[in-house]
Amino acid sequence: MVADKPPTTRTKVAIFISGSGTNMAALLYASRLSSAPYEVVLVASNKVEAEGLQLAELEGFATFAHSHKGQSRDAHDAAMERATIEAGAEMIVLAGYMRILSDDFVARWDGRIINIHPSLLPKYKGLDTHARAIEAGDSHGGASVHLVVPELDAGEVLAQVKVAIAKGETSDTLAERVKLAEHQLYPRALADYISRDSDPTHLLNRVRTVALSLPETSERASHGARGFRVGSEKSGKFFAYFNAQHHGSEHIALLVKTSGMDEMLNLIEAQPDTYYKPAFYGASGWVGIILNRPGVDWDNVSDWLTRSWRSVAPVRLTKLQDAADMF
Ligand code: GRF
Repeated sequence: MVADKPPTTRTKVAIFISGSGTNMAALLYASRLSSAPYEVVLVASNKVEAEGLQLAELEGFATFAHSHKGQSRDAHDAAMERATIEAGAEMIVLAGYMRILSDDFVARWDGRIINIHPSLLPKYKGLDTHARAIEAGDSHGGASVHLVVPELDAGEVLAQVKVAIAKGETSDTLAERVKLAEHQLYPRALADYISRDSDPTHLLNRVRTVALSLPETSERASHGARGFRVGSEKSGKFFAYFNAQHHGSEHIALLVKTSGMDEMLNLIEAQPDTYYKPAFYGASGWVGIILNRPGVDWDNVSDWLTRSWRSVAPVRLTKLQDAADMF
């Protein structure tokens, strides 16, 4: 799979299905590879007779079935969620799950539910994707793995694969080849998504997007780290550093300026999973925000970048920012 080394801790996932479960099977078998960064702790279905459940049982995976018939959406969602939580799942992977999840459910699992859809999104959301692609005369159909948000098939696309459409193709023949492509795509996309929490390039890009959106900022290398500055080339000052396992630390972290040693130590004491004292910089009140861990609060990261920027930006810029903030 994606990671070269076996991961030390695997993310626990629940797979939701409604039908044949061929994508589920691809995920189950991929999870047995030593490098897979996830393990499947539950296969759950809204259809008691779903074919995929039998295969999951045969392969020794825990299963849960709960029919949606005669139940409200909320009641059915709640039963599925309970089983998911009891199994210890940290993520939900939808694989042909033919039920729309309630907005509240999706909000509770924000960033932790993914789905596979048989089209090259944003094209052909919803049903009959293959027939629509053929009808439109497209050269390719395909599949997309995306994050689930309340709006149907509209979340961030994480990965896609294209499948050529032949002359005289029917939606059945196309669907068959798209499935083959899906089985390659889904385990890989899931692994990549899980690993991106510890991927320095992904984390640096997120930090960079926020840091460089602040006024008059630029990026510069600084002692082997990436630094972000405010002000002119000559007299500008650093307001943040991105450290990827720097100076022997195991953390990938963002360094920002606190008001001083007291505040820094208080933060570390209150939230030792989030903050740490970085080598060298800690002595002057810079705190490290740990980024390579699940559940990073990116709003907090963004607030810190803004605050740190303010603490070193020239007054003419902070004044402008104050004025802008009033609206
Ligand atoms: C797949 O085509 C997937 O894209 C869609 O539902 C189908 C599930 O098929 N969301 P299977 O049950 O995995 O065979």
